[in-house]
Amino acid sequence: MILMVVGGGGREHAIIRKLRENPEVTKIYALPGNGGIAADAECVNIGAKDIDGIVKFAVENKIDYAVVAPDDPLVLGAVDALNEKGIPCFGPNALAARIEGSKVFSKNLMKKYGIPTASYEVFQNAEDALAYLATAEMPIVIKADGLALGKGVIIANTREEAFAAVHSMMEDKVFGDSGSRVVIEEFLTGPEVSVLSFTDGETVVPMVSSMDHKRAHDNDEGLNTGGMGTIAPNPYYTPAVAEECMNTIFLPTIRAMQAEGCPFKGCLYFGLMITPKGPKVIEYNCRFGDPETQVVLPLLKTDLLTAMMATTNGTLKDTKIEFSTGSACCVIMASNGYPQKYQSGFELTIPADIAKNVYIAGAKLDNGVLKTAGGRVLGATATADNLPEAITAAYKLVENIHFDNAYYRHDIGARALRALKED
Ligand code: AMP
Ligand code: GLY
Repeated sequence: MILMVVGGGGREHAIIRKLRENPEVTKIYALPGNGGIAADAECVNIGAKDIDGIVKFAVENKIDYAVVAPDDPLVLGAVDALNEKGIPCFGPNALAARIEGSKVFSKNLMKKYGIPTASYEVFQNAEDALAYLATAEMPIVIKADGLALGKGVIIANTREEAFAAVHSMMEDKVFGDSGSRVVIEEFLTGPEVSVLSFTDGETVVPMVSSMDHKRAHDNDEGLNTGGMGTIAPNPYYTPAVAEECMNTIFLPTIRAMQAEGCPFKGCLYFGLMITPKGPKVIEYNCRFGDPETQVVLPLLKTDLLTAMMATTNGTLKDTKIEFSTGSACCVIMASNGYPQKYQSGFELTIPADIAKNVYIAGAKLDNGVLKTAGGRVLGATATADNLPEAITAAYKLVENIHFDNAYYRHDIGARALRALKED
């Protein structure tokens, strides 16, 4: 089988490595991939948002199955466009991808179907939003409606911060049209859990849970990033919480999407907060998380292509999906300065015997030499029988990987270990 994976980060590297385990896969193209992915797939210089280019490439190269990994092409309708040409795809169509593409859509869906989430109001103009904020309780959360590179959420501790957020999103348009509507919602507290799931629109199969570490610096300080590391499973996701989530969140969401005429097929990501009043949805993503995928897929025992095709074919109910009982830890090594200004172009040194544990996110080949080319450069990932061992092993990998200006957090998994000890 000839496969095509759209995207070019650490998540896509993890997906491609796992797909390669299937002996029927003869070739994988990555669009655009990156310098590290080039060791595992043929990279083609077509951007993930170039829908016409992606479709043309898929037709010309007789792609048997396509995996669209990032949010942008999904929201832009890449799956619809590929399906029109008869190419089966992993991922939701554009109507279903609205669950991530529009916060207003997802919040209204949850309200209509009684799915637990923070209470909220939607505003179409700055004047009304500011008037609401003048008397609202702080802290409060302000979210741009559309995609905003993961930066469209502002937690305002003071009224001044809240006003400033509305000014920048709705008047200065820092996120372009994504900020023409905003959701203002209740501030929730509690540990966060990420649960990715396979779904064919009717059946939903949660994958092993995980925990992201979004802030740039140790102790959850510094700016929000795309994610500085992950562990799986997440100790806050106990069997009792899992059961409650299945009954109050996962199944109701799948049924709600069906009832709205846009069944969701692919990977639905539930971003949850375990509040004192039970689990609530913080956000949905219409795709695999990054860097959650880098800890979840190494624990997947079932063939990934089989699981993906079951979501496309509607046969998930009859497909056994199994995860290992072990743990995984992924430490992101970034360029110093990320998520703000940073330098690139430094040579990467990764010992050959640990290359299989490294997922490259931001690097390019320069005359055959792998050099840094992004904020998040790579994820060093280890699996082990338990979480303490996985964390130790991941940091051991980090010690053996070198590039100038490397930066990483030293406390990935520390909160999870504390939670395990409190048990
Ligand atoms: P997002 O970009 O949607 O992933 O949101 C970024 C982060 O903002 C989440 O991971 C949460 O930590 C936080 N967040 C979002 N919504 C809320 C909320 N209603 N209450 C508290 N924190 C929130
Ligand atoms: N790690 C969070 C995300 O992929 O959105």
